Amino acid sequence: MSGITFDYMEQYLKNLIINDSTVLDEMELFAKENCVPIVQKETAKFLQFMVSVKKPIKILELGTAIGYSAILMSMNASKDTSIVTIERDPNMIKYAEANIKKYGYTDKIAIKEGECLEVLKTLDEKFDLIFMDAGKGHYNHFLPECLRLLNKDGIIIADNVLFRGMVANDELVVRRKITIVKRMRKYLELVSKDKNLITSIIPMGDGIAVTTRRNLDE
Ligand SMILES: C[S@@+](CC[C@H](N)C(=O)[O-])C[C@H]1O[C@@H](n2cnc3c(N)ncnc32)[C@H](O)[C@@H]1O
Repeated sequence: MSGITFDYMEQYLKNLIINDSTVLDEMELFAKENCVPIVQKETAKFLQFMVSVKKPIKILELGTAIGYSAILMSMNASKDTSIVTIERDPNMIKYAEANIKKYGYTDKIAIKEGECLEVLKTLDEKFDLIFMDAGKGHYNHFLPECLRLLNKDGIIIADNVLFRGMVANDELVVRRKITIVKRMRKYLELVSKDKNLITSIIPMGDGIAVTTRRNLDE
């Protein structure tokens, strides 16, 4: 049970999704067999869609894991697109590097090792798309840095924002996750209430929030 949408709906939507790449199939299988958390199928499709529509030239990702979502975005991006992805777990970095090499994305995807917040502070280039998928309990802390690094027309896509439904319903909250839930609520309030931002929260996968700057010329 996702705690977010009806099981029958989730199953139906998942069944409609067909991978058009054996690379993704292979990586999904590896992730499943090794219990590596990667984006859900619906979220993967959403990322493909957003990259195809937005056509970002520079992408920043928080949370590389085995490189699945970075490779997926790269596959759907233009040939000039580069991705910077941040990961703190050296073991994951080893797998991601191997995948990036194996599937031919070494000139497109660069991994930065370290804690997201620390690495974010060292960056000063601008990004067209920022994908937040690491440190669920710290999105609210990452936000100011991500906004600093976001291009004028850029978008931030944050995954897991409804966190198995707990963010929207106290009855679903398990004790040891309470801090994550509180901080995620804080993140959603920040991006929803800031009059300079427009945010749409989508109850899909584990919950996705898409944020962009409001056009102040309006
Ligand atoms: C959900 S996984 C990322 C999945 C990946 N985006 C994908 O779909 O293929 C989250 C990753 O972020 C890393 N991580 C968690 N907190 C982090 C932090 N504060 N700084 C850097 N990496 C972090 C974890 O080690 C893990 O590999």
